[in-house]
Formats: sequence, structure tokens, C-alpha cells
Amino acid sequence: MADAANRELPRNFGKYLLFDRIGAGGMAEIYLARVQDELGGARRMVIKEILPQLSADEGFAAMLIAEAKLAAQLRHANVVQVVDLGREEGRLYIAMEYVEGFDLNALLRRLSKNRIGLPFEFALLIVREVLAGLDYAHRAKGADGIPLGIVHRDLSPSNVLISMEGEVKLCDFGIARALGAQAETGADASAPRRSHLIGKSAYMSPEHARGETVDSRADVFAAGILLWELSAGRRLYKGNEEQMLAMAQAAEVPKLPNTNFPCQEDLQAILDKALTKDRAHRYASAAEMMKALDAYIVKAKQFASQLKFGSFLVDHFADEVIGVRGEREITAQQSIRPPVVSTGLTASEPATAQLSEAVAVTEAVTEEVAHSKSRPGSQPPKTRSIPAKPASTGGSLGWLWITLILGASALVGYFLLGR
Ligand SMILES: Nc1ncnc2c1ncn2[C@@H]1O[C@H](COP(=O)(O)OP(=O)(O)O)[C@@H](O)[C@H]1O
Ligand SMILES: [Mg+2]
Repeated sequence: MADAANRELPRNFGKYLLFDRIGAGGMAEIYLARVQDELGGARRMVIKEILPQLSADEGFAAMLIAEAKLAAQLRHANVVQVVDLGREEGRLYIAMEYVEGFDLNALLRRLSKNRIGLPFEFALLIVREVLAGLDYAHRAKGADGIPLGIVHRDLSPSNVLISMEGEVKLCDFGIARALGAQAETGADASAPRRSHLIGKSAYMSPEHARGETVDSRADVFAAGILLWELSAGRRLYKGNEEQMLAMAQAAEVPKLPNTNFPCQEDLQAILDKALTKDRAHRYASAAEMMKALDAYIVKAKQFASQLKFGSFLVDHFADEVIGVRGEREITAQQSIRPPVVSTGLTASEPATAQLSEAVAVTEAVTEEVAHSKSRPGSQPPKTRSIPAKPASTGGSLGWLWITLILGASALVGYFLLGR
């Protein structure tokens, strides 16, 4: 495929240098990228490059742009910052802050693979931070003071990003709505019927699963499922898409299977209220649920700081993440191609075209490695670039040795013969 060759990494994409693919989903490819600012500093970013067929869909594009514009107004510690939105090579993209760590799904998978339980206090911390992000987004107003009316609509573990510093950040605000618009207008004949089902049914509120208009209370319900699953240590709804959708519509949520939590009834009461089928009886807002959860955390003595969560992550996964990061840095460094010397043979054009930007990027990466070395307490990255071999110095050193040996032999000979 002609496109496949163009999509090799590293590659330039507008002002970004994409150097690592970190994810792919039904609607986009996710890349790690570097961008150079005017002062020469470089930043790592994430580029969500929307798939061509969606980028070309007018209904989707219009809604994505509208939603991304709203999301770009959000500034909060618990929300992944959207910094840029544009179209490049005919594809829509969203540039956002890079959260170095895991999404919650990946974290849970790694914990289970390594047979490490997620301490309950951290489970509570994650849900608490998710609620803080939701509450902020739900309340957000535009410059004119009018509420933006933001609802996430697709709160699920893969949209909860966790950094190695123990930060919890929500991403993909409003994307589900754009996908809904695409389903309404898309060419796919079955799309209109699917339009209300955009989002992950495993975390859907009953009203969402029934195809009704959702409001912020749908996000409260999803946060309730997160709390239930993190407490129970298993998924709430299991089955194929169709079965899960039916379960989401029925919203018959069982009591927690484990009974050894501190102040169990208080915890169960929070779950019951967040997961009420009729949204009129649910927590009216994320803030209200957060207040209840905070009270529970105090009563059950389950307070955990972000710092403590970060240390837990570093203790268990720093090697993995730093290793991955090292590889990514190397990948970026490999974007430097030797200058093309004119030999009369065909030169590789993309390599030369990328050279100047790639050099700058590598310098920034090297600088970052140097910084991380000097930071107290920071672990040195495991992977390092191989130091360049000073070939010319090696050659002249050889001659120096030969001269010295010959000189010494001549001196010895002179003295011996002289005697
Ligand atoms: N800003 C980001 N920082 C770090 N990783 C990210 C970021 N955005 C997305 N990712 C990673 O890319 C994965 C795929 O993202 P996405 O396309 O939204 O698919 P999904 O449907 O699984 O949420 C995420 O689950 C996460 O691991
Ligand atoms: Mg996502």
C-alpha cells in the first residue's frame, strides 16, 4: 500500500514529528510526537490522528471540531489538556498533553499479570480524582459565562490515564458525541440505529443504553461502575456486546461480592446511589458523589495521597515505563539519517527532508536525558544511546603511538651503540 510506506515512523506531520505509535482504536491512531517551539525547546505531545474515512465524514468532522473546541477550554489537573486541533494531509487530528504512564485498563492488566493487588486506598483515590475531573468539566463555562454543557459520555478505564507521578487524568471528552453524529449521518446503513450506542456499553448508564439523551448523571453512573469494579476486583457486566448492552439497559447491579471493606455499608450506600437505574435518584452531580466518597475515605481511614500512589507505581513499574521511554527516545534519535553525500546514486529524500527537524528533536531528547540524570531521586533511564565513536581521533592516536615507539627505540639504540 502506497500509504503504508508514508506512514513509517518517524515522520513529519505538520509541525509535529511523530516518532512512536502508542495506540490505535476504531477511530484514530495515537502517536507520540515532538514539537519544537520558537525558542528551540521541544515538548513531547500525543497526536490523535483520526482515521481517513472519519476525517472525511462531514457530520463527524463538524461535531468533533465542536466538541474538541469545548474540550480545549478545559484546564484542570484531572483532565488531559487538548492543545491543538487541525487538519493535516487531509486528516483531522487532536494534539494533547502526553501522560507518561498507563491508562487504567493497562494498569489493571499489568497489576494482575504481576499478581499485585491494587491497594483499596488507591482505588478510592482514582475514582475520587475521576470525579474531580468530571465535576470540573460538567461545571465549566465559556468566556461569556454560559455553561459549556460538557458530558464525557464514554468514561471507561481506557479513558482514565494515570501518570507515574500518581496523577489521574480523563481524556476524550466529547469524542463519543462526535462518533454519534457520524453514526447519524454515516454511509453505514445500520449506523442510525447504532447512533445512541456510541461509548462502551460496559460503562453505560441505562438511559444511554436505551438511546435517550444523556446528561452529567450518565458520567456519575459510569464513575459508579468504576468504583464497583475497582472495589470488587472484577468487571461488572460480562458478555458479548449485545449481552452487555442488555445488562446496561437493565442496570441490575449486584451488591459488592466481597464483604471485608472498612465501613462496608457506607461504601455500598455510595455505590447504590451512584448506580441507581432512575437518574432522578442518583447523585445529582459528580461533586455530590465526590463529597460522599471523601466522607467515606475519612471515616474508613483510607486516605492516599497522589505522592504515595506515584511511589507505588514507580516501585512496581518504573523499569517498564522507563524502559519503554528509553526505546522511544532511541527511536526518535534514530530519526537522524546521515547526510546524503552525492554519489550519483539515488539518495533517500525523506531522510534529508527530515534531517534538520530530527537533529533538533534529538538534541532536545538528549537534553532531557541529561536533566533526568541530574534530578535528585530520579532513576537513570535504562537505555542509553551508544556514544558516537570518534573515528578520526582514533586514527591520529595510532600514529602518535607508532612515533613514540620508534622514537623510544631510536633512543635506546643510540645509547646502546654509543656505549
Ligand atoms: N494523552 C495521552 N497520553 C498518553 N497516552 C494516551 C493519551 N491519549 C491516549 N493514550 C493511549 O492511547 C490509547 C488509545 O486511545 P484511544 O484511541 O482513545 O482508544 P480507546 O478507545 O482505547 O480509549 C489509550 O487507551 C491510552 O493508552
Ligand atoms: Mg480513548
